[in-house]
Amino acid sequence: MSHDEFPTDHPAVVTCGLPYANGDLHVGHLRTYVDGDALSRALRRIGQQTAFVCGSDMHGTPVAVNAAKEGVDPREFALEYHETYAETFPQFNVEFDNYGHTDDETNTELTREFVRSWIDNDHVHEKEIQVAWDTEEDQPLPDRYVEGTCPYCGEHARGDECDEGCQRHLEPGEIEDPVSTLTGNPAEYRAREHKFLRLSDFQEYLQGFLDRVEGTDNARNQPREWIEGELQDLCITRDMDWGVDYPAREDEGAATEDLVLYVWVDAPIEYVASTKQYSERVGADEYDWEQVWKVGGEERHGTAWDDDWTHEGGEVIHVIGRDIIQHHAVFWPAMLRGAGYNEPRSILATGFVGIDGKALSTSRNRAVWADEYLDAGFHPDLFRYYIATGAELDTDVDFSWDRFQERVNGELVGNVGNFIYRSLLFAERNYDGTPDTEVSADVQKRIAEAIDDFETAVREYNVRDLAEVATALSNYGNEYIQSEEPWNLVDDDPERAEQVIRDCVQLTKAVAVLLQPVLPGKAERLWGQLDEQGSVADVSVDAALEAPPAEFDEPDELFEQVEDDHIADLNAELRDRVAAANEDDEDGDADGAEDAADLEPLVEDRISFEEFEGVDMRVGEIVTAEPVEDADKLLRLEVDIGHETRQVVAGLARLHEADDLPGTRVILLANMERAELFGIESNGMVLAAGDEADLLTTHEDAPLGTRIK
Ligand code: 2FM
Ligand code: ZN
Repeated sequence: MSHDEFPTDHPAVVTCGLPYANGDLHVGHLRTYVDGDALSRALRRIGQQTAFVCGSDMHGTPVAVNAAKEGVDPREFALEYHETYAETFPQFNVEFDNYGHTDDETNTELTREFVRSWIDNDHVHEKEIQVAWDTEEDQPLPDRYVEGTCPYCGEHARGDECDEGCQRHLEPGEIEDPVSTLTGNPAEYRAREHKFLRLSDFQEYLQGFLDRVEGTDNARNQPREWIEGELQDLCITRDMDWGVDYPAREDEGAATEDLVLYVWVDAPIEYVASTKQYSERVGADEYDWEQVWKVGGEERHGTAWDDDWTHEGGEVIHVIGRDIIQHHAVFWPAMLRGAGYNEPRSILATGFVGIDGKALSTSRNRAVWADEYLDAGFHPDLFRYYIATGAELDTDVDFSWDRFQERVNGELVGNVGNFIYRSLLFAERNYDGTPDTEVSADVQKRIAEAIDDFETAVREYNVRDLAEVATALSNYGNEYIQSEEPWNLVDDDPERAEQVIRDCVQLTKAVAVLLQPVLPGKAERLWGQLDEQGSVADVSVDAALEAPPAEFDEPDELFEQVEDDHIADLNAELRDRVAAANEDDEDGDADGAEDAADLEPLVEDRISFEEFEGVDMRVGEIVTAEPVEDADKLLRLEVDIGHETRQVVAGLARLHEADDLPGTRVILLANMERAELFGIESNGMVLAAGDEADLLTTHEDAPLGTRIK
């Protein structure tokens, strides 16, 4: 079954993975929310009725463990973070229609209904399993209370997730060599009765689901492997007191009294609960949560599923981090199906954000914090633009203040801001606003193409392209105004000047409309500069072609240059912090081995052999090496690569003494584009591993200039 093209006749809901209410937000967390927010704004822009919802994940061991460390009651602890998140998201222009939490009544009630529905439909059974136990504390060790080795990939893992390795969910009792995180003692396994959702009931259904679900490749393909063979039951209860109580039927007896539901039961149900709260607030006439989530209306809702069911509800779009694909592409569709709810239409799994090629780490303070960005005084839209357009949605990216500056100054200040400012200023000074003539056919056509590209980007969930449609249009405008030079035409050919500026004002309006999903604050301000009425958030994409107001005031600049010294300060601060975090890593790694969590993730996109052939790497030998003035890490090298000797500036000084290097064999990327560093031209790149730059070399005497294949 293929899905209808957006905009459809059904309401849509865009959800973002719920943040655990257990710590401060950093740029890695924000990526998912910025992407989700931009996508929901863009869907509205093309006429799709859309709600954007989320909430805080309050239960489970991620919260309980951190609350215990601070000696605080988990509810009080989680509520405080919940409130902080609710205030922080809008500061990044992430505007949820509803932001609830999993401990509120709507969610706890709905969760009980879901579970009762599974019980009534015979998808739940009880089983005796082995759970990890701390003998010193004499207590069970659910999830994050235990660590050990992943049975699937052998990496270090937490009780219920292989967070440092294959990212798989682990069932209680699966982790090998369990150790208590409470006492550090080896844990023992003890028998306990628990409740299970029989996922094998949904095996066939899930195969079909994965064939039709839309979204990023990682979310659609990875789960296929996980549903091969008979699906393991999902343990839905835990021996804890923080969470939603298991809603036992009377005949299940007292044995269930100490059980709460596993956090991954009530967490995704908050997607439904949050939509319901939104619907209740605005009224079902405006937005009906049941039309989105319930299959086949009240008649069939809550009854056992049968194979005739198809996608009958609204358009459910989940935006998540790539570490929780299994929960969303396997467990969650089964949970929904088992209770008669609609399935997700799409799952978009965003890549991780790292720093210097290493994963962010909250506990080691290797992060750029949300507050820190805001305190630096940058507009939130600059971060949104940088993070949403730096890479494809599912690709991992590194956060770098230098790159942030480069992109803001080059693309937003230099391209978009420059075009808008000179167009509007010229228009206001010469015509008091929009010149009184029609837009030219060429420009109209170019805007219409941009609208098409925008619609395609939304339908493909391509947030990066959304913004690029607008920046490409602005680029076109810059080239147009530059080549026409209206300032030289005003006297000689006033009609032509008027035409050019009329076109440029129209292009400016189109940029405002198309840029709005990713830069909502800036687009709103531009809307005001054009003296447009109402909010740019409320107009359809076709407004890009509608005439702007005849008059507007003199504009001011939309973007400000990010200054070098500001970036230098932020870099210095981040460098110190990363160095401290790296030291912690080394202290924690007795054998000095790189922590798997810190390794830069493998790039998922494969390159073809032809592409590899385009990379020209040669065996070389360092002839001379000397320090570069004012640059602690850099050396100026001369490298003999057989054909010629190249001058290269390389960041080798941390690990290598300049005097030791002459005579060392190296590998040189010979067709690297030329660069200038500290005023010295670098003609090639010497290959080295890691932050310290451990030089790559050869072990036999391959002649200088030999190509690496
Ligand atoms: O992994 C996490 O951070 C979870 N709090 C995400 C929950 S998303 C959802 F399904 F609720
Ligand atoms: Zn693993």
